[in-house]
Amino acid sequence: MGDKKIQETTEAQIAVHWQEEEYYYPSTKFIGQANLTDPEVFDRFSLDNFPQCYVEFAEMLTWYKYWDEVLDTSDAPCWKWFKGGKLNASYNCIDRHLKDNKNKTAIHFVPELEEERVDHITYQELYVRVNEFAALLRDFAGLKRGDRVTIHMPMSAELPITMLACARLGVIHSVVFGGFSASACADRIIDSNSRVLISMDAYYRSGNLLNHKVNADEAVELAAKEGQVVDKVLVWQRYPGKYSSETPMVDGRDYFVNEVVKDYYGSRIEPEQMLSEDPLFLMYTSGTTGKPKGCQHSTGGYLSYVTAMSKYIQDIHPEDVYWCMADIGWITGHSFIVYGPLALCASTVIYEGVPTYPDAGRSWRIAQELDVNIFHTAPTAIRALRKIGPDEPAKYEYHFKHMTTVGEPIEPEVWKWYESAVGKGEAIIVDTWWQTETGGFLCSTVPGIKPMKPGSAGPGVPGIHPIILDDNGDEVTQPGIAGNICIQNPWPGCFQTIWGDRDRFVDTYFGRYCKNPESKDWRDWPYLAGDAATKSADGYYRILGRIDDVINVSGHRLGTKEIESASLVVEEVAEAAVVPVAHDIKGKEPDLYVSLKPGYEASDEIAQKISDAICEQIGKIAKPRKVWLVPDMPKTRSGKIMRRVLGAISNKGDVGNVMTLANPEVVETIRTMVQG
Ligand code: PRX
Repeated sequence: MGDKKIQETTEAQIAVHWQEEEYYYPSTKFIGQANLTDPEVFDRFSLDNFPQCYVEFAEMLTWYKYWDEVLDTSDAPCWKWFKGGKLNASYNCIDRHLKDNKNKTAIHFVPELEEERVDHITYQELYVRVNEFAALLRDFAGLKRGDRVTIHMPMSAELPITMLACARLGVIHSVVFGGFSASACADRIIDSNSRVLISMDAYYRSGNLLNHKVNADEAVELAAKEGQVVDKVLVWQRYPGKYSSETPMVDGRDYFVNEVVKDYYGSRIEPEQMLSEDPLFLMYTSGTTGKPKGCQHSTGGYLSYVTAMSKYIQDIHPEDVYWCMADIGWITGHSFIVYGPLALCASTVIYEGVPTYPDAGRSWRIAQELDVNIFHTAPTAIRALRKIGPDEPAKYEYHFKHMTTVGEPIEPEVWKWYESAVGKGEAIIVDTWWQTETGGFLCSTVPGIKPMKPGSAGPGVPGIHPIILDDNGDEVTQPGIAGNICIQNPWPGCFQTIWGDRDRFVDTYFGRYCKNPESKDWRDWPYLAGDAATKSADGYYRILGRIDDVINVSGHRLGTKEIESASLVVEEVAEAAVVPVAHDIKGKEPDLYVSLKPGYEASDEIAQKISDAICEQIGKIAKPRKVWLVPDMPKTRSGKIMRRVLGAISNKGDVGNVMTLANPEVVETIRTMVQG
């Protein structure tokens, strides 16, 4: 608690000194075509009209049966939206578009190698491939409604095909980011009790064809050690008909999808009529403790919400070509590459590789070639593109009407480059603040109604009513003073629970401010997002960063405990502490401090071993900037590691008064080691 207070005060001070930026207004051209221009939407979605207002979102979908109740609060805070309603996500993303749009492109798949042709998959072809693969999953893999399946695949057209085939059967998919290690994949297989793993043999990254199948073998082996048996591994091929991995296929366990699916050519699977409250998927994310939590998202609430957000905030029309650069293995990709755009019958772009491969102009060539008019990316990519090719966008003939930024705070300078260089002064920008848990956006400007303000996400989107609370649960009303941002009301996109751990769900997100745990009234359950934020006089929110032990690296969440636990696996390590350090492209990077067990000498080999262990257990994304082997950790008298002091040293800041520590002398030793 002591540590947290100090951190919050600092953030509040930063916020006070943070200058407010000028507004940027949407053009009349943009407003003229926008999906949402009626400012009365905010009245329609006021708390007085809650929860009935959300019917407007649900009606964007096709239901087999309408709901009996808009919001059931009887199992608070596990809300049930559109209870009793029946629908299927795959039907909503595919079948319902066939009548008028079967020949329209659903997915443009862009391989990383520029000499390979772009694959344009129509809604009709998507329908055929999803049905055939669903038949394989049902009849060959024996999967049925309610089963979980783990998917560890790179960016490919086969990834959404796999997800939608699961959704068609009511199988709950759990997609693991392709760049995560076998060990991270195994953890998710175990937690979700998956007995089927879907993988791919290989994919391109920076011009290299990476062996991905090897991860499947290791993951299955690790899961088996923990008692979770995977009996089938289904392997897609990067080049259908050719195996591109040197890892052998295991007889009786591993199957090439492209071979087995031949038995299902022509199969058509009636979509399963799912209850609105049935889970659609799990998405694991980092939290305060070591174990990633499986965020369970619903079918009806989630799909309604992402469809509405895609329509109102992303301003997607069926004729748009929409490119979101995120990976489908993160929530952004689930909501805003797959489910939202496809539910609206748009064309969605999936790019296999690195945005700057083979050069800084690649992204803009893709935009030009495919006529992309809505572009969606994260500050980390914007910073990278700005650094290596600030003048590149001007060389290409593309025109965006709309651009999104997501995942971390964007510096006003970077925002302005995005607006003028990438958007060519023609595109509106939405800075969307949300989380894996929330399914879709929480704060953003509605692009056709509200002006933009660089560095601020904006007000709550229609229906979202944020509030900033202090540690006592009182509202912070003074503009520019930071506190904990919470959402006062439930919304349909919110996850339902943590898979298999309802108590952790309630504690983490509602424990802090719920005064009456018995209450069935949603007003008693403000949702704690875990971010510090300020509200300015115009009602715009500025997100400052996490209040818990989570580091945001390139817009992705890594738990400090997760990284620390990974390093503790190394024999020589006694204690480990991770702190975030500022990085000009990634936003933040983990810096790792380690003390060794008695009898071990610090060496480069040990540091390397620790770094490798982290990459192996989590993935390269968690690789520390540096492993500092220190003689001892700075500690309080009660033995708590002072991460705040280490953070100040890593960021060349002021360590403050350390005389109350148990070992103040070690601070200077570490400072000299790190800062020279
Ligand atoms: O700290 C906030 C930051 O990213 C966290 C959520 O991370 P994740 O669940 O991985 O989802 C990322 C994509 C939605 C938040 O708690 N964050 C996300 N968007 C923004 C942001 N911080 C500032 N501005 C944003 N637009």
